[in-house]
Amino acid sequence: MKKLSYIEIRQKYIDFFKRNGHQEIPSASLVPENDPSVLFVNAGMFPLVPFLQGEKHPNGTRLVNSQRCVRTIDIEEVGDPFHCTTFEMLGNWSLNDYFKKEAITMTIKFFVEELEFDINRIYATVFKGDETAPKDTESIEAWKEIFKQYGIEAQVGDRIIENGKEDNWWELATGGPCGPDSEIFYEIENKLVELGNNVFMEYLKTNNEYKDLGRHNVDFGGGLDRLACISQNVKSVYETDIYKPIFDLVRELSKEDILESQRIVTDHIKAATWMIMDGVEPSRNQQGYILRRIIRRAIRHGKKLGIDSLFTRRIGEIAIKQFSPVWNKLETDKERILNILEEEEKKFSKTLEEGLKKFDTKSIDAQTGAGAFKLYETYGFPLELTIEELRNRNIEFNEETLNTEFEEEQKKHQELSRTSAAGMFKGGLADTSNMSTKYHTATHLLLKALRIVLGENVYQKGSNITPERLRFDFPNETKLTEEQILKVEDIVNEQIQKGLPVSFEEMSKEQALQLVPFAAFSEKYGDIVKVYYIGEKDNPYSVEICNGPHVSNTSELGVFKITKQENVGSGIKRIKAILQ
Ligand code: ALA
Repeated sequence: MKKLSYIEIRQKYIDFFKRNGHQEIPSASLVPENDPSVLFVNAGMFPLVPFLQGEKHPNGTRLVNSQRCVRTIDIEEVGDPFHCTTFEMLGNWSLNDYFKKEAITMTIKFFVEELEFDINRIYATVFKGDETAPKDTESIEAWKEIFKQYGIEAQVGDRIIENGKEDNWWELATGGPCGPDSEIFYEIENKLVELGNNVFMEYLKTNNEYKDLGRHNVDFGGGLDRLACISQNVKSVYETDIYKPIFDLVRELSKEDILESQRIVTDHIKAATWMIMDGVEPSRNQQGYILRRIIRRAIRHGKKLGIDSLFTRRIGEIAIKQFSPVWNKLETDKERILNILEEEEKKFSKTLEEGLKKFDTKSIDAQTGAGAFKLYETYGFPLELTIEELRNRNIEFNEETLNTEFEEEQKKHQELSRTSAAGMFKGGLADTSNMSTKYHTATHLLLKALRIVLGENVYQKGSNITPERLRFDFPNETKLTEEQILKVEDIVNEQIQKGLPVSFEEMSKEQALQLVPFAAFSEKYGDIVKVYYIGEKDNPYSVEICNGPHVSNTSELGVFKITKQENVGSGIKRIKAILQ
């Protein structure tokens, strides 16, 4: 097997699928656009949900990319050889194009012929069937046939392993397009390591019910870092060329040699630079809270390693250098990213100091579970630090009791946050196809109305859609007057009442820019874009570059109402509006 750099692996993957008729699409932002059901993009398929449900993709029916992802569920696991907060997922998709046999054949050919993995060490899993869907015999046959081509007689029970839903079914926590999957594994020292997963999406999960999706999609995903581990014959992702330059610096700066902490610092600072690049800033809620948590955790472990503060800038710099050839925005945003890291480090040092004062003034009973948990929650004190400080101050306590009580408090808190997370999932993807779609179309109507009322300088600075409302940011010096608001509402409602048709055309970016010169392009668009018309094409009310999805006629929207206006930064105004 040839040793390949992770950049070579990624390129080989993209090239192989391009040769097989796929078009490369850019990675979407880590922060989901227009879908509030999860905090971060956690799989390559996530930004493609509308297209997996039938919306036409401007790049065709075969797509490939490497998508940056965050798995918040793995954050506590970081420190072992494999778990990471952020990673790249190699993905290829068939949008109602090829299906199981072709997908499995391409996957295995890529591993065996492009990466030179040993066919004798490859294993497959398939879905054995249940009341939701039948046994996946098509995949079993496909695996047998491809193994045979490489001279191996594969059987169910040895090389092909059948599993139930727990292992061989894939769906987002929020539902949406889903189906049985077939994973591919590699044997290393008697252990099976997952190389990737083909999900065969023929079902749609809404409100805990599975319906026929009416299409057959393939969603393949494989973690680039795992593949780099295997190709480079190392036992941990931190030893691959993805992490090594960062990891080496962390080790160099460490005075104590604690492997787990070194991995945590490496992973978390790298993850923080990616999140900040995608517009997240440390805060008390949602994405900002996750970011704050990982930066602070990195700092705590940095202290444990004896790394001199302020160090996040130094490690952040290496992380940025490492990944900016792929994510150019890291380089252009470098100073902003590093400043945010450093500021958070300073802020956290202050918070820690304040926490220490609470010890001294005894205003928190650090020796009780509730007190220790308060220090953890409010001042970022991990339990071990509290214990250390209690000892330093000769305060009496029982370590075992404190541990148990602290855990109990933590459990209570986790339950609370789970409940609020569940609240967030309600009305998630399941709704994308109806209310959010309506708000997408309403956003186009609103932008045009603002341009009519305020002038042609208005453009979309930002947009966010939930099933409950739309939010729209645009440049304007002053807030809209009452009269202007009524006028905008009237124009939008007039277009709704007219029942205008909504349609789109695909064209090159250059052509599209002729039609929509003020369009704000984001990196999510490829070379071919979709141009959406509201109204008859030869005399449309609005023309926009957009991926959709949209309703097919404005009459579906109901009544449009602006509910709120705010100032958000210099010269930018924000409107929130609903459809009743
Ligand atoms: N979406 C599939 C996964 O994340 C490929 O495993």
